[in-house]
Amino acid sequence: MIKRTEGVPEPTTIPRHVAIIMDGNGRWAQKRGLPRISGHKAGVETVRSAVEQSVRAGVQVLTLFAFSSENWRRPPKEVSLLMDLFMIALDREVRRLKRNDVRLRIIGDYTGFSDKLQSRIAEAQKSTCDCTGLTLQIAANYGGRWDLVQAARRLSEKVGSGLIRPEQITEESISSELSTAGVPDPDLFIRTGGEQRLSNFLLWQSAYAEFHFTDVLWPDFDAKEFDKALESFVNRQRRFGRTSEQTKLEDGS
Ligand code: IPE
Ligand code: IPE
Ligand code: MG
Repeated sequence: MIKRTEGVPEPTTIPRHVAIIMDGNGRWAQKRGLPRISGHKAGVETVRSAVEQSVRAGVQVLTLFAFSSENWRRPPKEVSLLMDLFMIALDREVRRLKRNDVRLRIIGDYTGFSDKLQSRIAEAQKSTCDCTGLTLQIAANYGGRWDLVQAARRLSEKVGSGLIRPEQITEESISSELSTAGVPDPDLFIRTGGEQRLSNFLLWQSAYAEFHFTDVLWPDFDAKEFDKALESFVNRQRRFGRTSEQTKLEDGS
């Protein structure tokens, strides 16, 4: 079982929720003259390391963007290989996750997946549902706009059936209908692979996230790079709309 490392900074300096756009697998493979899928396979190893690093550092929630609602636009062969890889990784990793007290949650529109994959997802979630350590959210067939649309639909159904009045729709009620309901918003949002865009990831939830963009390609994002991202977070002053002076007074710094 991975243990939280002694001597790591106090939890206040550790982001509670880290969200990562794991980008650059294809380029990593192409640089080596390998097919893109080799990059995705190498990326799965990095997922394992990111989970371990998160447990060690005392992060509570780790959300990884594995497949976006737009990624269906890729060549069918790559999409189908990605689906196979997802299924294999679920089968292989669930036992390890359980051992490390990691609760797995898949967020996204999984009605888009094959029946077989959907049932594997359900099994994997069920078998880790009592784990109380890190919450690992894998975003698969996820899009921030999709997330908001499905929340809007659920809320309008509640209004339609007279369960709530329109004025009772609040920021909190929207948050609680999103696929991430029940977990805090991301504090640190990392994107590997050199691009500086959101690509439709956690749009609502990242309103006040701190961003860390790195050119490092996802398969190369090792423990050292993870630490660099955590260190970059420690030095940020999160003002949430206040002035710098107010923030210092309220934080007692
Ligand atoms: C990210 O790596 C993984 C997925 C989107 C599934 P990419 O496949 O986007 O890698 P690049 O950006 O082409 O290098
Ligand atoms: C974002 O990466 C999605 C995932 C990492 C799963 P993409 O590589 O698909 O993003 P774009 O197309 O460059 O914006
Ligand atoms: Mg990419």
